[in-house]
Amino acid sequence: MVNFFSEPILALETSCDETSAAVLFGRKVLSNVVSSQATLHEKWGGVVPEMAARAHVEAILPVIQEALLNANMNLAEIKGIAVANRPGLVGSLSIGVCAAKALAMSLDTPLIGVHHLEGHILSVLADVGQSTLFSLDRFPHLCLMVSGGHTELVEVICPCQYKLLGQTLDDAAGEAFDKSARLMGLGSGGGKAIQEASFGGDPNRYSLPRGLLRDPYNFSFSGLKTAVLRLIEQQVETIVLKDLAASIQEAVAEVLAQKALYAAKEQKSKMLTLVGGVAANKRLRELLTLGCHQLGIEFYTPPFELCTDNAAMIGVVGSIRLARGEKDGHGMDTLANAPLP
Ligand code: KG4
Ligand code: ZN
Repeated sequence: MVNFFSEPILALETSCDETSAAVLFGRKVLSNVVSSQATLHEKWGGVVPEMAARAHVEAILPVIQEALLNANMNLAEIKGIAVANRPGLVGSLSIGVCAAKALAMSLDTPLIGVHHLEGHILSVLADVGQSTLFSLDRFPHLCLMVSGGHTELVEVICPCQYKLLGQTLDDAAGEAFDKSARLMGLGSGGGKAIQEASFGGDPNRYSLPRGLLRDPYNFSFSGLKTAVLRLIEQQVETIVLKDLAASIQEAVAEVLAQKALYAAKEQKSKMLTLVGGVAANKRLRELLTLGCHQLGIEFYTPPFELCTDNAAMIGVVGSIRLARGEKDGHGMDTLANAPLP
């Protein structure tokens, strides 16, 4: 059985270029405010760590205030603070962590540091008023976690207990989308821009590599961006953008779906979950919905707003860990890299 902290908590997420604050009561998300820095980094072609940290400093207090306002609560009613403290950009993480420590100290409430990827994995539990809630008895299950920095297949034994089955050996799936989008002149729009550009495109028009198909649980996406670069260089005059976008999307989604479904079958999983920013991809959702149906296993993916970085998912983990009596001291660190707990 999964237990949640029985009082309202405030959660913060600043691991990369999104400043987010959420208020939760148990798994119920009372508010979830996300302020994105995407336009700030646009012209640099990627996230600039120093600029990201400074933007978090400016955004953190207004975002917290908005989260409290949307939840119709004041600070005195908050009885616990959860914050993403690893892995991520250390400068960015430390803004959320400093704010969390200051709040926990002044409110005299427990503080808990949360692993960002554990947040993605347990984002399925968050209740944002969606029509189908993830049933709390669906453990163990298999999780495909796909974001801008990570691509992992994880057996979720129960909340807080995980077994890593496989991961990318080079680029993450989201990184493949992000780099391809830039090569195609779609700026920093990443996977979302490729998905939009692929509308009406032919996914079989360009033949793109499917990496590491013989290694069942690990992934490789670095060959894809090189192939996209070559294709653009060689056919710059004739390239059909929507066909290229559809072909890239198909290459990424097909490999992810194929490996996740194979793992689900091998592990005799009764359920597969899809989480992280790339989980917002409609083609990937479609392939997994169909594949799971054919295998006779359940498939669950959270609503879009819980897929990309957000504080609600950090709050879910925080609420579970606080309910178990766990807490961190005010000397809690931030870490650029950290294995799953
Ligand atoms: O989880 P997330 O917000 O941040 C990280 O923890 O990295 O994931 C961001 C990633 C980016 O690489 C972005 O291109 C990708 O999620 N993404 C998508 C879509 N929306 C966001 N990829 C494919 N299709 C989408 N619709
Ligand atoms: Zn993330």
